Amino acid sequence: MSQRLLGQRALVTGGSSGIGLAIAQAFHREGAHVIVADQAPPPGDLPFAPLDVSDWTSVQKTVHACGTIDILVNCAGIMHVGKLHEVDPHDFDRVQSVNARGVFLCCRAAIDGMLAAGRGNIINLASVASLIAVERRLAYCVSKGAVLALTRAIAVDYAAQGIRANAICPGTVDTPMIRGYVEHYFSHDVPGTIAALHARQPVGRMGRAEEVASLAVYLASDESTFLTGAAIPIDGGWTAK
Ligand SMILES: NC(=O)c1ccc[n+]([C@@H]2O[C@H](COP(=O)([O-])OP(=O)(O)OC[C@H]3O[C@@H](n4cnc5c(N)ncnc54)[C@H](O)[C@@H]3O)[C@@H](O)[C@H]2O)c1
Repeated sequence: MSQRLLGQRALVTGGSSGIGLAIAQAFHREGAHVIVADQAPPPGDLPFAPLDVSDWTSVQKTVHACGTIDILVNCAGIMHVGKLHEVDPHDFDRVQSVNARGVFLCCRAAIDGMLAAGRGNIINLASVASLIAVERRLAYCVSKGAVLALTRAIAVDYAAQGIRANAICPGTVDTPMIRGYVEHYFSHDVPGTIAALHARQPVGRMGRAEEVASLAVYLASDESTFLTGAAIPIDGGWTAK
């Protein structure tokens, strides 16, 4: 099997669960040296570094300990369910702090090494919520809109320095995040909520983390060298409606 990321050094935040874990495993299969950075270690034996993306000291320590990073995948994220009148301002801050500022901090810590190396590849997990309003996800939509804006700004500012930045915009993907927030916010009707989460994709099902990981491998590889500043939906047709 060809190894499309042979010898590349990749840091995957949020790599201990769900989409991040699938990306870390796929990168490893493609020959990359992968470091998972998360609050708890991943299953299996991938190298792990503890990280809180919302803490600048923690981010600097972990990113600098990794040495020069060829590929940075920002996958750490949290969900919040609520319309504007249901959002406590502290919860709003917490969601922005992890989902938006956390991506900024990790990019900020990695960019100096990428500039020195004259190359770098940043892949940010945005969401369909970066592109359209998803009902009752106000704080999450705001945070993912910011991730997309950040991705585009980085792509434009550093294209001439050999650094690419792209955003993956998944629809609903069946991960522990989804199962967790359904239990937390929709405990009165878990089966009905899961059925609705499948149904909002025109293909009639949620995505699988491995399907998102395939796109991340493509973005990380030299097959996608003309792609930067893109927001790529991978959503079973949701945003085509
Ligand atoms: N699952 C979906 O339907 C979906 C859709 C669109 C976008 N996304 C995005 O994809 C990413 C991964 O989502 P997932 O569904 O795999 O979630 P998940 O909950 O399965 O995994 C998220 C990981 O991020 C880690 N994390 C959370 N806060 C952190 C922090 N402060 N510092 C470091 N790590 C932290 C968690 O420990 C966890 O391992 C998120 O950014 C999410 O918003 C998910």
